[in-house]
Amino acid sequence: MSKLYSSYTLRGLELSNRIVVSPMCQYSAENGLANDWHLVHLGSRAVGDAGLVFTEAAAVSPEGRISPSDLGIWSDEHIEPLKRITTFIRGQGVSSGIQLAHAGRKASCLPPWEGGQQISPLAGGWQTVAPTPIPFYEDDVTPIELSIEEIQAIIQSFVNAAKRAVTAGFDIIEIHAAHGYLLNQFLSPLTNKRKDKYGGSFENRMRLLIEVTIGIRAVIPQEMPLFVRISAEEWAPGGHTMEESLEVAKLLKTNGVDLIDCSSGAVVRQQNIPVKVNYQVPFAERIKKETNIATGAVGLITDIFQAEDILDKDEADLIFIGREMLRNPYFALLGADQMHIIPNWPKQYERGKPRK
Ligand SMILES: Cc1cc2nc3c(=O)[nH]c(=O)nc-3n(C[C@H](O)[C@H](O)[C@H](O)COP(=O)(O)O)c2cc1C
Repeated sequence: MSKLYSSYTLRGLELSNRIVVSPMCQYSAENGLANDWHLVHLGSRAVGDAGLVFTEAAAVSPEGRISPSDLGIWSDEHIEPLKRITTFIRGQGVSSGIQLAHAGRKASCLPPWEGGQQISPLAGGWQTVAPTPIPFYEDDVTPIELSIEEIQAIIQSFVNAAKRAVTAGFDIIEIHAAHGYLLNQFLSPLTNKRKDKYGGSFENRMRLLIEVTIGIRAVIPQEMPLFVRISAEEWAPGGHTMEESLEVAKLLKTNGVDLIDCSSGAVVRQQNIPVKVNYQVPFAERIKKETNIATGAVGLITDIFQAEDILDKDEADLIFIGREMLRNPYFALLGADQMHIIPNWPKQYERGKPRK
């Protein structure tokens, strides 16, 4: 029996299978508002029968956007267009998730297809913020060090965004604490040189993520699962390590997180990532086995048998698929066919089913 195609229950939610569309920025929103692109993009992957479809990183404040065209959830105006999407996804028997994010010093950049470089405030960008005024690229505008009051306001933006996500009909929230964005910038000793209660010791560096987690858990329904994506390893000398990630996972679990989505890197430029098939799976496996929290594996998982094998070996609980889902929105439907499982084919598409 396939584990990948078995249902999976977290708190009050049952996912129909364990294939997850990983969060992927589309750089296609105006003023953070979801539009037809997001409906069709996310909707197609729900038609393709992934068990859970995540939106891209949705900014909790305008300054928290990576680019001016990021999705956002910083005002009530953002709720209705997102609701249209969650309603469609639910109509396909699929669950929906939203990733909440603040880009910190990595904000105010052009979309990748326009070069990806930072837009200075003079050229229509905005002033970035960070735990410590160190830019990501040397010629980026130096970010402003956040004051304690500003940190409190950011926590509140995450909490308000979570409330809106519930109203918009999402089944799951994921806090983005990976890839060198703001929460990761606080966690990392390479980007956080603060001397106050949000910096210095490991306990202090974790504080912002834990406060955001506690704040969100307090305002979302008890039965709603909460995920956190972390960069389990920074792949950089002096950076946050896997050993520390185990401690982060334990503390997140104590504070009501249900699953750690195990990614890595992108915190500093001087990183050395040994990219190969399944290279991040060992993080999901260790965190799952050593802290007894559910984990998601992600990164270069492109084949249905590869995904099944990770679950069979008990290395993770959910399989997040990124780029393969861009290439093939029907990854889960066609994969079921490859595994000789009767796929949950939409009735509209039945006449297109692969013939035996
Ligand atoms: C176009 C694109 C946009 C992405 N945007 C996000 C994002 O918004 N949040 C995030 O956590 N990861 C993001 N990622 C990373 C993916 O979620 C995933 O972790 C990564 O691509 C590795 O998985 P893959 O090898 O299956 O693509 C993005 C990746 C791509 C290709």
